[in-house]
Amino acid sequence: MSGMSEGVRQDILIDFLKPGMVLIGDLFTKEGIFIWPAKKPITQSLINDLKSKDISELYYTKVTSKDLSQTMPPMFSEEVKEEAKVAIDGILNQVKKDEKVNVEDVRNVIEKLFKELITKLGKAIINLSIVKNYDEYTYTHLINVTVLSMFFSKFLGASDFVIKEIGMGAILHDVGKVKIPTSILYKPGELTEEELKIIKKHPIIGYFAIKDEPTVSTYAKKIVLFHHERFDGNGYPLGLKFDRIGRYPQIVSLADIFDALTSERPYKQGMSVPQTLNFIMKESGVYFEPILAQKFIMEMSKLYKLPSPYAIGSFVLLNTGEKAVVIQKDSEYTFRPVVIVVESAFGRPDNKTKINLALDSSRYIVRSITEIEEIERLKIVMA
Ligand SMILES: [Fe+2]
Repeated sequence: MSGMSEGVRQDILIDFLKPGMVLIGDLFTKEGIFIWPAKKPITQSLINDLKSKDISELYYTKVTSKDLSQTMPPMFSEEVKEEAKVAIDGILNQVKKDEKVNVEDVRNVIEKLFKELITKLGKAIINLSIVKNYDEYTYTHLINVTVLSMFFSKFLGASDFVIKEIGMGAILHDVGKVKIPTSILYKPGELTEEELKIIKKHPIIGYFAIKDEPTVSTYAKKIVLFHHERFDGNGYPLGLKFDRIGRYPQIVSLADIFDALTSERPYKQGMSVPQTLNFIMKESGVYFEPILAQKFIMEMSKLYKLPSPYAIGSFVLLNTGEKAVVIQKDSEYTFRPVVIVVESAFGRPDNKTKINLALDSSRYIVRSITEIEEIERLKIVMA
């Protein structure tokens, strides 16, 4: 899969620019006139100025190359994607206007996604869709989360019925967000306590929108209500522990976090898949049920055919501050090899502790050590 090259254009409408927002590339008018540099916070006066000149369509450039396949969901066709957009749009509008929800269209989309999932399973067809703006992000994110959740539950051996219900829960999981003011939802930078409180209401709002819907199963309803609960009980809205949450909401949480972190937004680069999987590993036992998290990591590394970024004999820095040498690659967790600690976090030579990172969830590789002097020094320590 080829990466995106420098200078790729990403359209953005003036309405999506907010004061304080930081773009990852330079900002231009649609005619290509340079307006604002990358990484410099957008100001209100810039927005006013553009509005006064009637400039509404803009674009920014990507500053780094990134493998597109990393941010994209597996296996679904453009046709279903379009249909999903319409169905999602419909239900979001119903919830927004306090109308009775009609889940029939969403249900049809889940049936089609399910069919595609079954027929294409194993072929790892990767569809590319570039996120253009916030609206596009919402649809793409919901579809990605749905497909990933269904894909993962299929892998876990769930029945067809359960897979579809997890899909229903996934596609509906954030419907409550339509009731949250966009100024809070899309606020760049940190939220105030009050704003956080408002955002944290979205699972309950969503649940109440669908709770009386007889065609939506309890599985799906629980997913909507519990998708921000955590394994350790520190989630919201209810602060339940895993034994009360169950596996299905956690499956959707995993897919949700995975897609959110790997997606690129106007104000942030997407994290790489290995980085994201490391994050999930770190949250295993905290946010996620450990066995489920490990299975998810393994399945995603296989799906994305992650090459091992760490050569045997190369040095790496661990999150613990330890420096280690890679001695063996794991065939499943390609980015979690077996290492031997060379130096402790305090800079003392280690007595060569061997760690299989595929099994040790508390440790992960922060980065490769590439500085020549440091490599030479570690070679001496190791000898
Ligand atoms: Fe959510």
